[in-house]
Amino acid sequence: MPKLEQPVPVEVVGAGYYLPERVLTNADLERMVDTSDEWIVERTGIHERRIADDSMSTSDMAVLASQKALAHAGLAAEDVDMIIVATVTPDMLFPSTACLVQRGIEARNAFAFDISAACTGFIYALATAYTYLASGYIGNALVIGAEKLSAITDYKDRNTCVLFGDGAGAVVLKRTGRKGHGICDFILESDGRNAHWLQVPAGGSRMPASTKSIGERLHYISMEGREVFKFAVTAMKRTTVRIAERNSLKAEDITWLIPHQANKRIIDAAAEALGLDQRRIHYNIHKYGNMSAASTAVGLAEVMLHNNLQDGDILLLVAFGAGMTWGSLLIRW
Ligand code: UT7
Repeated sequence: MPKLEQPVPVEVVGAGYYLPERVLTNADLERMVDTSDEWIVERTGIHERRIADDSMSTSDMAVLASQKALAHAGLAAEDVDMIIVATVTPDMLFPSTACLVQRGIEARNAFAFDISAACTGFIYALATAYTYLASGYIGNALVIGAEKLSAITDYKDRNTCVLFGDGAGAVVLKRTGRKGHGICDFILESDGRNAHWLQVPAGGSRMPASTKSIGERLHYISMEGREVFKFAVTAMKRTTVRIAERNSLKAEDITWLIPHQANKRIIDAAAEALGLDQRRIHYNIHKYGNMSAASTAVGLAEVMLHNNLQDGDILLLVAFGAGMTWGSLLIRW
């Protein structure tokens, strides 16, 4: 896909996030499966993750993050034009989680839909919202990445259960008049040939829920970890370098790299390909693990709320995920 030649000024004007209070530590996992704190920290960089209570769904977390983002943006819920939720853990197959968020925040004048692009979902959702805004069809959008991955994680499988956590991040996008600011480029890519590397095999139309599917634990995440790892390193490096190069940005021009938080080794490989100083990388993997679409959403919200951004700062979001999907998105503050 070509570079956005004359980006319409679409800016991120508000952010919020929500993380459940309950903490699942590596020590807790040592009591559940054959693993160790040392193995998890060394291979992934994760120390703990947050887990939502049984009573809390993905849309509940998304509502809490959205209310904060709207307050931060100074936007009333009834003035929201569009809601997009990126998630692989919708409350149910339908209606969309975005419609449940619409009900939860009482955004009665919005239209709402979900995006399924796994861990790249938040970047896909931002790019989608950008195109609606740039076309002039809407004036603002609420874009959310929210996941309750604990609901689809098999806590008997040490290959996956140490990785995932729950949470939600939300931002408000608005068309503004500030030329040269806001979303200035994005790259979206996917390749379905290796869709089987990372999936939840049952519960859809191919394999509806049955006693057999439940007995065989097919409603949980199944992952070919080594294949995903190799793919992720290549894809993350490539998209990071490509978006920087085609926007004539050097490593030192990037204020914050906000990467998907699947594995610290994958993040560091992408940053290294660009020659980026580690202090410019926003990590939250040690605290929250991999929250799929919520990782970059919470990451962007954290950077906006806590990192004292200055005019002209450059934020680079990069992610990869099931599909396989991958992509990057550039924001000039
Ligand atoms: O958002 C996208 C979602 N997923 C990912 O991004 C995951 C990408 N993959 C990865 O991050 C890594 O492949 C993992 C962290 C999942 C695994 O790390 P690895 O360095 O690739 O380990 P491995 O799969 O090559 O396994 C090495 C060993 C194996 O034992 P053997 O066969 O060498 O005896 C595993 O059985 O580590 C074993 N192992 C564990 N040991 C202790 C696997 N999981 C664990 C564990 N604790 N939790």
